[in-house]
Amino acid sequence: MQSDITSFDEYKKVHQQSITDKEAYWEQKAETFDWHRKWDKVHSGSFEDGNVKWFEGGKLNITENCLDRHLDEHGDKVAFHFEANDPDEGPRNLTYSELHEEVCKFANVLESKGVGKGDRVAIYMAMTPEIAIATLACARIGAVHSIVFAGFSAQSLADRIQDCDAEMLITNDGLERGTKLVPLKEISDKALQSCPMVNDVIVCQRVGNDIDWEEGRDEWWHDLMANASADHEAEVMEAEDPLFILYTSGSTGKPKGQVHTCGGYMTYVSSTLKNVFQVGQDDVYWCTADAGWITGHSYIIYGPLLNGLTGIIFESTPMHPNPGRLWQVCEKYEVTHFYTSPTAIRALMKEDISYVRDCDLSSLEVLGTVGEPINEEAWHWYDEEIGNGNCPIVDTWWQTETGGMMISPMAGITPTKPGYATLPLPGIEPALMDEDGNEIEGNDVQGNLVIKQPWPGMTRGVWGNHERYMNTYFNKYPGYYFTGDGCRRDEDGYYRITGRVDDVLNVSGHRLGTAEIENAIDEHNKVVEAAIVGYPHDVKGEGVFAFMTCNSEIADPEAFKKEIDDLVAKIISPIAKPDKIQIVQGLPKTRSGKIMRRILRKIAAGETDDLGDTSTLVDPSVVDDIIDGQAY
Ligand code: WT7
Repeated sequence: MQSDITSFDEYKKVHQQSITDKEAYWEQKAETFDWHRKWDKVHSGSFEDGNVKWFEGGKLNITENCLDRHLDEHGDKVAFHFEANDPDEGPRNLTYSELHEEVCKFANVLESKGVGKGDRVAIYMAMTPEIAIATLACARIGAVHSIVFAGFSAQSLADRIQDCDAEMLITNDGLERGTKLVPLKEISDKALQSCPMVNDVIVCQRVGNDIDWEEGRDEWWHDLMANASADHEAEVMEAEDPLFILYTSGSTGKPKGQVHTCGGYMTYVSSTLKNVFQVGQDDVYWCTADAGWITGHSYIIYGPLLNGLTGIIFESTPMHPNPGRLWQVCEKYEVTHFYTSPTAIRALMKEDISYVRDCDLSSLEVLGTVGEPINEEAWHWYDEEIGNGNCPIVDTWWQTETGGMMISPMAGITPTKPGYATLPLPGIEPALMDEDGNEIEGNDVQGNLVIKQPWPGMTRGVWGNHERYMNTYFNKYPGYYFTGDGCRRDEDGYYRITGRVDDVLNVSGHRLGTAEIENAIDEHNKVVEAAIVGYPHDVKGEGVFAFMTCNSEIADPEAFKKEIDDLVAKIISPIAKPDKIQIVQGLPKTRSGKIMRRILRKIAAGETDDLGDTSTLVDPSVVDDIIDGQAY
């Protein structure tokens, strides 16, 4: 199932055609799958009305395309190698037949618990094959899965369960990542205290840590599976039925539940994976993300299975038990296609190069990055040290909302440039806008990145909040999808993402809303008001800088910082902990009471010579106090 594009000229031609007639392009992609009923209409709706639909009238089940479709020819092929946290844990591979069987069994388990089409199921699990099994079993019965990254706190889990009214939670007793134990069941129990809608909890045993048990609510995965039948007929879904909800942070308020639907998402993730990675049937493809993020949904679970590939589910971290782990795993499974984050690369390039050189990386053919801008130094290191100078690098730009990759080189086809996501994939038409809502024409320009035409993988809504969906993505530039990113288009028409233009931070590739962190810090009884900004961080890309005013003297700022850290970890997640805090006498505010983050960003970055106009501040003197103050 090689990509249908094999040269740069062909890319240009296909891209042009796909823009002129997007319906023909996507229809052809959709036709490669098994459908119970063909669609009546390829595409309808518009950005203006926020009612985009693809393949309406079509009926399918995505898991039949992920699993059943491959059984005749590839039943014995490995779908997933499992690489556990402990490198010495025995090998475990799941073939397509075995995965199919497990998914069917678990689908029967879910149905026996009364879960059915349209019901929401929360998944809060370790990175073992069971997270994929749980996810696919939901899809098989038509239940809408909502995976919550296992690094999120009890409160974040509860918020997400409540927002979509999930009636079941699937979790583990605990998980181990590196040397850390995360007591998932204990965290779940805490979350469920405020989630009366959850009637059933299925617990998959992983660590064997002590857990509490609520009779009548909690059941063991292995007990339920022991009696489950391996025959399961997949629920026939409408193309536009929701497949899953995944929450993502924005500049204001609580995380938004992005809704992705069955037919369009399937078509989109499958074809983008094939095009970008140019991956073939004998390849071993490894994406190091977590299934709790969109990268894991699209390019660990759905995309690779739709393409019948062999993938890897990795439970550990790049640093465990040593900083050579990723390269050791590449050698062990003879990985051909490798997809990771710039943060991981930046962290690993600081380590002794022998960790790389001790491994045989000659199987590698294509290297990918995702989640944040990659700096040139990291790009070159990845290219030279990992790719040995002969693996194309695909810097893939996309978002939770886009479902799949949008702007990216196609491996070996698109000439690359360090730091550039390069050119749009077929079917994708980007543009740059100025602040007045005009499209910026020509090359060597910079502006806000928008997309001009609907594509099948795009978010269909914010769960339960159409107004927020419209306001965030479609109302700023009517007729366009607004990405929230700034972008440069260079003299060759190549795109380089410059980072968010809204109050969203990208810390180690994780998207964090400044408002969410501020609200968490405001919960501290000594804090009056907090203002969060990002600043350049050499490993994380962006670090979290928290400025705050307090209602009393802070005698021990280091201890206070620890309290703030713990609070943020408890309310959101350890990933949102501030890297630096600074207690200030006042925050720079305009007369209308708005915090001027622009100034705080400059101070946080150490660029205090160039603060711009401060005359609109109520009290410009606070700025000097902040510059003179100390951060911890
Ligand atoms: C934001 C989306 C895409 C899956 C993982 C993150 C940033 C993403 C790149 C890239 C520069 C990138 C953008 C985007 N981003 N990929 N290749 N180069 N920036 O998904 O959590 O929804 O975050 O990540 O700012 O808007 P997400």
